[in-house]
Amino acid sequence: MEIIIVANEEEVGRVAADKVIEHLSGLATPVIGLATGSSPLGLYAELARRQDEGDIDFSHALGFALDEYVGIDPAHPESYRNVINRTVVEPLRMAPERVRVPDGAAEDLEAAVEEYDAAIEAVGGVDVQVLGIGSNGHIGFNEPFSSFSSRTRVEVLTPQTREDNARFFDSLDQVPTHCVTQGLGTIMDSHCAVMVVTGEHKADAVAAMVEGPVAAVMPASILQFHPNCIVVIDEAAASKLQHADLFR
Ligand code: GLP
Repeated sequence: MEIIIVANEEEVGRVAADKVIEHLSGLATPVIGLATGSSPLGLYAELARRQDEGDIDFSHALGFALDEYVGIDPAHPESYRNVINRTVVEPLRMAPERVRVPDGAAEDLEAAVEEYDAAIEAVGGVDVQVLGIGSNGHIGFNEPFSSFSSRTRVEVLTPQTREDNARFFDSLDQVPTHCVTQGLGTIMDSHCAVMVVTGEHKADAVAAMVEGPVAAVMPASILQFHPNCIVVIDEAAASKLQHADLFR
């Protein structure tokens, strides 16, 4: 893991965008893995700005989102299909048909999840996977005790994650109970992973992911084994690291 500690949220977006561009530029068909949530919004905005400046071109890129709710109306503004359209596809002017989000409303969910992993493999894998981290250490929606070798599948959301995400809904009971998520094994297959984390509320998760043991209770800790994982965090998110000086 390469840990980069920067001053604030704005810097996180800028430095992470540098890393994404560095790993995607020159590729004829860049494949980007997309996270939802608040954390990567600065990164996506910075990528849009850098595209306007001519540093990168997403017109031929392919995208694969990490996850989607099950049991949400696909037309709901907080379905991840709509979130990805709003925060990534439109600002980066990507071709909508080239950006896939797991289909949480598929009639045959089992077939749909298997096909999702196959579709990623068919294009040669994800070149850069953008990641955030949940306060309980989840990546995608891989909650604690997910198998480290899991593939895209249907999962149950923990009460903590539902509470964390209730801010996007009118009330807690509107937050779906289930999801489809890329597995930890799927995420580990990405050629490069760029995680962005900001804020003190993520400091415990960051410390456990970076300095703790690789353990199923902390799903993101599997990234210690990723061959090319870059974690860009602000000072607040780094505040519980015991060895922050080693990373500066
Ligand atoms: C969400 C998403 C994750 C995201 C995480 C953190 O529920 N499924 O992909 O990384 O939780 O979200 P946020 O960045 O809003 O804190």
